[in-house]
Amino acid sequence: MNQDKRYLIEYWQYLKKHRLLLGLALLLIPLLSFFNLAQPYLIKKAIDDAIIVGDMALLQVITFLFAGCVLFDFLSRSVQVFLFQYIGQKTVQDIRADLFQHVLNLSARYYDKTPLGVVTSRLTSDIESLNESFASGLVTLLADLLTLIGIVIVMFLLSPKLTFITILILPPMVLVVNFFRIKLRAAFDMIRLTLGKMNGYIQEQFQGIAVLQLFQQESRSIQRFKVLNQTYKHSTLSSVTYDAMLYSLIDSLNSILIALIIWYGWGQYVGNMVTLGVLVAFVDYIHRFFTPLKEISTKFAILQHALASLDKIFSTFDIKDYIRSGDQTIQSFEGNIMFKSVSFAYKGFEDKPVLSDVSFSLKKGQLLALVGPTGSGKTTVLRLLSKLYDGYTGQITLDSHDLTTLQLPAVRKLIAVVNQEITLFSQSIAFNITLGNKAISTAKMIEAAKQVSIHDFIMSLPGGYDYCLERGNQSLSAGQSQLISFARALASDSPILLLDEATAAVDSVAEAAIQKGLDVLLAQKTAIVVAHRLSTVQHADIILAFNEGKVIECGNHKALIQRDGFYAKLFNMQFAGI
Ligand SMILES: Nc1ncnc2c1ncn2[C@@H]1O[C@H](COP(=O)(O)OP(=O)(O)O)[C@@H](O)[C@H]1O
Ligand SMILES: [Mg+2]
Repeated sequence: MNQDKRYLIEYWQYLKKHRLLLGLALLLIPLLSFFNLAQPYLIKKAIDDAIIVGDMALLQVITFLFAGCVLFDFLSRSVQVFLFQYIGQKTVQDIRADLFQHVLNLSARYYDKTPLGVVTSRLTSDIESLNESFASGLVTLLADLLTLIGIVIVMFLLSPKLTFITILILPPMVLVVNFFRIKLRAAFDMIRLTLGKMNGYIQEQFQGIAVLQLFQQESRSIQRFKVLNQTYKHSTLSSVTYDAMLYSLIDSLNSILIALIIWYGWGQYVGNMVTLGVLVAFVDYIHRFFTPLKEISTKFAILQHALASLDKIFSTFDIKDYIRSGDQTIQSFEGNIMFKSVSFAYKGFEDKPVLSDVSFSLKKGQLLALVGPTGSGKTTVLRLLSKLYDGYTGQITLDSHDLTTLQLPAVRKLIAVVNQEITLFSQSIAFNITLGNKAISTAKMIEAAKQVSIHDFIMSLPGGYDYCLERGNQSLSAGQSQLISFARALASDSPILLLDEATAAVDSVAEAAIQKGLDVLLAQKTAIVVAHRLSTVQHADIILAFNEGKVIECGNHKALIQRDGFYAKLFNMQFAGI
């Protein structure tokens, strides 16, 4: 509850920017109620004071006033709806932009444990439902309540007795509405839950569509989908049923009440206790009384859902899983990289050290190769150096700067990364090489592509560098993707290259091209490479052989082969066959 209050305050920080408009829109609420409530009263006046007496002049005035009320009712309602939608959309836009920026800066640790679907729904449906409730839920609920109170007051002024009868209907009414509110809430929850599951399922199935089809799992996939689809239909139907029952029950109560009023009111009229106008006005008021009542149950559901969204959105803002960043920058990097007794374990796996006591140093232009069995911690070394994770013990330095004292952007600027899995975006080839960095000129981009021998291929595509990769990686072969990622690393001008070589085999033509591209890259940068390629390892200035997070051998190829230890064995197993 406390948390909810805090989140509401944070939400208010966003709404506050539009407080003038908000105030205006809120001011319209009583105005609207007034124009709405005045209408039956004017009818009463027309009947009692004009029609029955035959005062045509007064009837004209009242007709004119009535038309005015209807017009202002319409105008203020339109302006109000527009204002609330406008404020709602503006607020949602701000929150969405801030949230996007927030999650964009969260560390790899956060993404290790958060499914992508969660991030997506925070940024889309959760924020949208917040708006929905604000623009149509909360505010109209306020207006409805105000109108209800207003109606009861006017009724009471017109005839306390008839009002008393009207109020008698309220207790059974509250019971009915409450019963259906609970049922509807459960149905809505079920709908959202199933919808979420269905979305997740569809996404996963189609991401893996190729595997699914190749392994002929379509029928199993359909079976599971049918179950979800069935549950969804079931919960939607039950919500529709409850909704329909609620509406018709309220309608019936409405009619019963009107019958009661006419029956009882007629006696009153005959006994001269009320006028005919009051009776007519009452029937009209009762109608206006029931309309918002019908809506209230649905609005409660929307509101409850919005509170849940509020919680999800602002608790995401509360996640401060950033990488510790210092304030120093590096003016001119000389090229010295050093690990001093670095040990590390991933969060949540503290009892399982991934690196223990890793030390090495590297000078400008050198090539360091990391070799070792899978899972021995090679990729983790690259991750720590590029500040994707922190929380290690020991020290990592760039020149004389401790990595933890450096600004995150200052570090990332020095480093070009080529990962084991190449990420290409569904955009133009040019974008995929420059990543939208304006500092990289077209000439430079083309030069980089030429150097890694992918230029000719790109030019053979329709549109050349403007060719849009419709489906990211899927549109290119593994070798071509790799070369594009080399061009990306080369164009970026960063002095350090971190490369996690792909273990996937490529055909021999691509192999030659990749080797050539790699040689160009390595010649220009200080590099740490997780090496699976014989030539990369052989030419390395230093080789670190990893096993279970420890450096067990260190030296160049010749020395390590002569030593005939772990590396020599690994070398014979892994590379000798190539
Ligand atoms: N994000 C992560 N969270 C938890 N454990 C991880 C994570 N990434 C890697 N690991 C574990 O750390 C160990 C070393 O992984 P990694 O550095 O990728 O090895 P290598 O690149 O040598 O194959 C493995 O046992 C792996 O399971
Ligand atoms: Mg790896």
